[in-house]
Amino acid sequence: MTQAPVNVTVTGAAGQIGYALLFRIASGQLLGQDTPVKLRLLEIPQAVKAAEGTALELEDGAFPLLQGIDIFDDATKAFDGVNVGLLVGARPRTKGMERGDLLEANGGIFKPQGEAINAGAADDVKILVVGNPANTNALIAQAHAPDVPKERFTAMTRLDHNRAQAQLAKKLGVNVADVKKLTIWGNHSATQYPDIFHAEVGGKNAAEAVGDQKWLEDEFIPRVAKRGAEIIEARGASSAASAANAAIDHVYDWVNGTAEGDWVSMGIPSDGSYGVPEGIISSFPVTTKNGSYEIVQGLEIDEFSRGKIDASVRELTEERDAVKQLGLI
Ligand code: NAD
Ligand code: LMR
Repeated sequence: MTQAPVNVTVTGAAGQIGYALLFRIASGQLLGQDTPVKLRLLEIPQAVKAAEGTALELEDGAFPLLQGIDIFDDATKAFDGVNVGLLVGARPRTKGMERGDLLEANGGIFKPQGEAINAGAADDVKILVVGNPANTNALIAQAHAPDVPKERFTAMTRLDHNRAQAQLAKKLGVNVADVKKLTIWGNHSATQYPDIFHAEVGGKNAAEAVGDQKWLEDEFIPRVAKRGAEIIEARGASSAASAANAAIDHVYDWVNGTAEGDWVSMGIPSDGSYGVPEGIISSFPVTTKNGSYEIVQGLEIDEFSRGKIDASVRELTEERDAVKQLGLI
């Protein structure tokens, strides 16, 4: 272990995702087994005591890679020197709500956090927004951090990607590891489009292997897109361990690179690729290398996929316009 510790700021540290996430960061699963970490936990004042309790447990984990834990109720302090920021803290939706219903409630959190990141982040900072509505919250934080390169603000659609991978593997009776090149396009919402037309299963085209457009339209797409609601209905609370797992996957791959012959889905600022308006934070297929990501180019988009991508992108532009109206960007 020769490296200096990486500062990882986690907001909402006392929440349910925080509890599932922090131990995995401390054990080295976020950044790799050679990378020591310092945790900087941000909570609202009422939840600081609970975060302190989690910190006691982290200490009891005796994690060799964990080189410090600091707890704050002040965003400027929590983001001082941050290398990796996981913006989890927000109000989760409950039964019957759409994620977009949280725009106003949660939008107010991400403006001051963007300002704090702008003020104190390290040059190599990478931000993942998990708190919903994740894409538009990332846009708000980014808008208030003009000194940070825009592409460092990302939103989590990896949970959707992983869900799609699992559902497709189940349908075809294969291991999830055999499913490659899946794409989530658009928003982390019910309009998202899980695309299997470029995916491969055991080296063969996944859509051809499935050969069932009705399953694709009536089961697969809605199942993946509405999985968050299915979990809330079943658990009485929104997904937590699977969300933490996806956050680990997102950052690990961003930092350490994607596997040859595969790609992942990330919500990233659009550069205009695939007709997605520049600037909005939308999910794309990406490969990563040396801490940077690139959109996979040249995929053929048929009429069916085009309609689905456009619908989700339309929702993102509406969310952007709504937060503009609220004065949040
Ligand atoms: P939770 O209610 O259990 O925890 C949220 C925590 O955030 C609480 O401890 C709260 O005190 C804290 N918090 C609130 N405002 C804060 C602020 N300004 N600064 C710091 N902390 C603050 O919720 P959870 O289940 O952990 O979910 C957190 C968020 O993640 C929700 O918005 C949820 O919808 C979202 N989520 C996103 C995905 C995804 O795939 N992108 C998946 C699951 C959940
Ligand atoms: C999820 O996809 O599970 C989360 O975004 C939580 C939610 O509100 O659906």
